[in-house]
Amino acid sequence: MVKSDVLVLGGGPGGYLAAERAGAAGKSVTLIEKRALGGTCLNEGCIPSKALLNSAKLYEHALHSEAFGVTAENVKIDHAKVVARKDKVVKALVSGVGAKMSANKVNVVMAEGYVKGKTADGFVVTAGGEEYAADKLILACGSVPVIPGIPGLREGVESGFVLTNREILSLTSVPKKLVVIGGGVIGLEMASYFAMIGVPVTVIEMLDKIAGPTEREISDILLKNYKKKGIEFKLSCKVTGVGTNCVMYEENGEEKKAEADAVLCSIGRRAMTEGMGIENLGVAMERGAVLTDEHLETNVPGVYAVGDINGKLMLAHTAYREAEVAVNHILGKKDAMRYDAIPSVIYTNPEVASVGDTEESAKAKGLDVKSVKVSMKYSGRYLAEVEKGDGICKLIIDKKRNSIVGVHLIGSYTSEMIYGAAMMVESGASVDYFKRIVFPHPTVCEVIREALFEI
Ligand code: NAI
Repeated sequence: MVKSDVLVLGGGPGGYLAAERAGAAGKSVTLIEKRALGGTCLNEGCIPSKALLNSAKLYEHALHSEAFGVTAENVKIDHAKVVARKDKVVKALVSGVGAKMSANKVNVVMAEGYVKGKTADGFVVTAGGEEYAADKLILACGSVPVIPGIPGLREGVESGFVLTNREILSLTSVPKKLVVIGGGVIGLEMASYFAMIGVPVTVIEMLDKIAGPTEREISDILLKNYKKKGIEFKLSCKVTGVGTNCVMYEENGEEKKAEADAVLCSIGRRAMTEGMGIENLGVAMERGAVLTDEHLETNVPGVYAVGDINGKLMLAHTAYREAEVAVNHILGKKDAMRYDAIPSVIYTNPEVASVGDTEESAKAKGLDVKSVKVSMKYSGRYLAEVEKGDGICKLIIDKKRNSIVGVHLIGSYTSEMIYGAAMMVESGASVDYFKRIVFPHPTVCEVIREALFEI
């Protein structure tokens, strides 16, 4: 039996950061990972999709830059080369995580772990024929795509006709026609990539809007931009079945069919809680995810759950912070998790970024709020760089406290601007305080300053 202070199950952003922080604090750590360090984020999510989207953005710029005085001939995109470059980026980052583990003396075990339960040695996990034990156990097993019982869907996954985020990011040939089920983040990012490289794409979405909880005016602008790129949307449509080279759906009570030679199923993810023995611990669950408190501890003292497995906010940066809070609790340091200022980004062109409440969610909390909106065209840099841009910046203000409770942006660079907005929301400081902050000129982030003076 190998004994450590801390055992981490899962090597994605939540798991590897927990291992790194605990190792850096002098704890002996064992991290068990069954596939690849970096988890979904590095291997089949955040990073590979950004590599693909950047190639598509370069291609789009090369094709449509006449308005900027630039013309190019014979512009081509080679999908197989795009994927090969993506693989190189992923490889470099995965080995970077490995290096961090070594630097912090983390014992990495590449094998599938199974939780046996608690014994006198602590929590015991078996992996690769060996037993590992520790007094503290951090569950960081992530999530898996939801594949509902729609007739033909599972068969489609088995035959390779229906893809999830994993397979679509590694396609080496381009589908002739792609149907995307679900107009959420994964669906939109992938629809955007394939449409930009010339594939006809249809997105079938159950709701009457895309991009899930995104502020409605912003999701409407995004929809308009996507339609301009040629993506077809079937909103308020329920998928009823998957057949041979087609997806069946219901539109206004009528059964319809969308032809495809590949289908992406992106209708959400669920916490990965099965098959690794966590039931042997007796941890409490809620809606299929592990229940945690503000320290990310479960109902079983000494067992923590960070990242997608707790189902709170399935984002890598949430997992990072949760990992830090869990490790701080193990180290006896005062810390607690807050979820009210976690930014979210959709990395399409234009980019969408938001943090905090929308007007509706703030009102639902009983806050007396008002919102202000300015066009991105207030920014000189935006106007200089973007042709016919329709980006906006929206601030949601708590009238009683004169503080900002939400920031919603669509336009270029917004993914890089949103952390500043998150600080505004997280700090709870007054609007007058932020009005005294100097923003660099000319930048797109100046629209936030402009909006502050519209309040
Ligand atoms: P999602 O929850 O973002 O979107 C799923 C969409 O599918 C929803 O709009 C839902 O209404 C729709 N839907 C559900 N059932 C349907 C049906 N039967 N027919 C038609 N539409 C249906 O889920 P997604 O896109 O799969 O992403 C999974 C997770 O990955 C999310 O938690 C997301 O936050 C995370 N992620 C984050 C990214 C980012 O931050 N940029 C990028 C990619 C994923």
